[in-house]
Amino acid sequence: MTKIVVRPITDADIPGAATALVEVHATDGYPVEGVEKPEAWVRPTGIMGAWVAEREGKIVGHVAVMQPHDEGAVSLWREKSGEAVERIGVLARLFVVREARQYGTGERLMRAAMGYAQESSLRLVLDVMTKDAAAIRLYERLGWQHIGEVTHHFGAGQQIPAVCYVWPAD
Ligand SMILES: CC(C)(COP(=O)(O)OP(=O)(O)OC[C@H]1O[C@@H](n2cnc3c(N)ncnc32)[C@H](O)[C@@H]1OP(=O)(O)O)[C@@H](O)C(=O)NCCC(=O)NCCS
Repeated sequence: MTKIVVRPITDADIPGAATALVEVHATDGYPVEGVEKPEAWVRPTGIMGAWVAEREGKIVGHVAVMQPHDEGAVSLWREKSGEAVERIGVLARLFVVREARQYGTGERLMRAAMGYAQESSLRLVLDVMTKDAAAIRLYERLGWQHIGEVTHHFGAGQQIPAVCYVWPAD
């Protein structure tokens, strides 16, 4: 197994991250919205930090911390905790292509994002579709705390159940 490097994203990584995203959508149906514009999806507005996993020049994984909008896990956590929105970041856009899974790549991407949150004194929240069981196991293994359920609306009136998590929990 060749070494996988996890590092902050650069502009040069965007095409590779977009290709990896298209691959993950084909294998896992993530994201549920589809990947009509994959480069825009990996470079949305409101990114605070983003990291990629790279193996032999190929981007095989990605994760981001994004500015919060008052919806989903952000609203749920604010209702529960009263925490100021400025102190919250949203863990988002985590994916690893199939061929690079089960080697701890997802965990290393998560630890990069969590390290950034710690340095920035940010609380992280996320929502994950209930169907994405591997991701849920990863979050729980890393100490994320379940805070509730929401319904994710997308497309032309479609909806799917999601669960919300926070880290650190205290
Ligand atoms: C969720 C996801 C990112 C995990 O990526 P990953 O690189 O496989 O993650 P890890 O390797 O850290 O952990 C996955 C499993 O491999 C195991 N593992 C890690 N290193 C291992 C090793 N060296 N040998 C054997 N198993 C290992 C972990 O224990 C874990 O096991 P589990 O699933 O039974 O709990 C990936 O499955 C994915 O992209 N899914 C589709 C997209 C998605 O759902 N994203 C979430 C959006 S909210």
